[in-house]
Amino acid sequence: MSQATTTSAAPPDAANPVLSIRGVHLAFASRDPQGAVRRAHVLNGVELDVGSGRIVGLIGETGAGKSMTATATIGLLPPSAEVTGEILFEGADLLSLQGAALDKVRGARIGFVAQNPRAALEPVTRVGDQLVRLIQAHNSLTKEAARQRAIDILAAVGIPDPQARYRAYPHELSGGMAQRVVIAMALVNKPQLVIADEPTTGLDVTVQAQVLDLLQQLVRAQGAAALIITHDLGIVAQYCDDMAIMFAGRVVERGPVAEVFAHPQHPYTRRLIAASRARIGNALTSMKSDPPDLFRETTACVYADRCELAAAVCQSAPLEKPCNPAAPTHRVLCHLAQVP
Ligand SMILES: Nc1ncnc2c1ncn2[C@@H]1O[C@H](COP(=O)(O)OP(=O)(O)O)[C@@H](O)[C@H]1O
Ligand code: SF4
Ligand SMILES: [Mg+2]
Repeated sequence: MSQATTTSAAPPDAANPVLSIRGVHLAFASRDPQGAVRRAHVLNGVELDVGSGRIVGLIGETGAGKSMTATATIGLLPPSAEVTGEILFEGADLLSLQGAALDKVRGARIGFVAQNPRAALEPVTRVGDQLVRLIQAHNSLTKEAARQRAIDILAAVGIPDPQARYRAYPHELSGGMAQRVVIAMALVNKPQLVIADEPTTGLDVTVQAQVLDLLQQLVRAQGAAALIITHDLGIVAQYCDDMAIMFAGRVVERGPVAEVFAHPQHPYTRRLIAASRARIGNALTSMKSDPPDLFRETTACVYADRCELAAAVCQSAPLEKPCNPAAPTHRVLCHLAQVP
């Protein structure tokens, strides 16, 4: 397989974040189960860093807020969203960027791999034309040069006969090939950061591994950082440098993958890893219970209702910042955290 062109890049550095998400709260006006319109608190103070050149796995059960975190970062929240906090990328707060300033970042400095490639690709435009448009939107290249770059990236993502596939419509591609095209679109402008939201959902296991191998290889080759959203702990273990565990709109634990697997601190992380080691299918699915109540606004621990260790302090004391400031790379949102 041909390689993407490499660029010079700083070495991977967890302490030098390209993306810093700070205290992000997100709410929507929504109907509660009784039909009253109230604020649904979807994100409750998300704190997350993606270090330069690092691949970070964001894991959590359905509804935890993973996709909303990604959506806020790439500036695609609906206008009805009430959002506060900061999402810092290359010195700018993405939450305050709009219009052309945001377009300059999205698709160029940040590449996005959507969960559903069919929805991400325009059905009536040839894949080559979609790539060329994206390339020319962010680079002063002639149509011919952009076309060549498009063919090169199609080759780099392992599409056989890229000259011919350049002229294909999305529906003419298999699921795996369509996802490769979406990865090509995310990477073609050599972004600093790639965000991939469950990039292998719906693909069979062999194709999943091929797509993730490719994503990892290209992200590394370009010296980019990546945030990979998944509900599969195995993917985190195999492909990521750092991991962040999300529950009810907060990142409850984050740190280097090896460190978190060896010394998980949060009760939820411990359960997750224990379930995964017990090999009882997908750990998250097997331990899922009632979803948290989005209409309850709290600054206290969001896991208290499920936690076997919950103490009186857990129900009321504020817990939006990690309790272990002495461990800058392994942060835990728990009154009982003991890192390092
Ligand atoms: N427009 C909206 N109004 C109300 N709630 C929403 C809206 N969009 C998403 N949500 C809720 O936000 C929560 C987080 O969603 P999401 O980020 O998609 O979760 P995940 O990707 O972790 O499965 C879910 O409970 C979802 O129902
Ligand atoms: S703060 Fe308390 S309730 Fe929350 S996870 Fe820690 S021990 Fe459990
Ligand atoms: Mg999601």
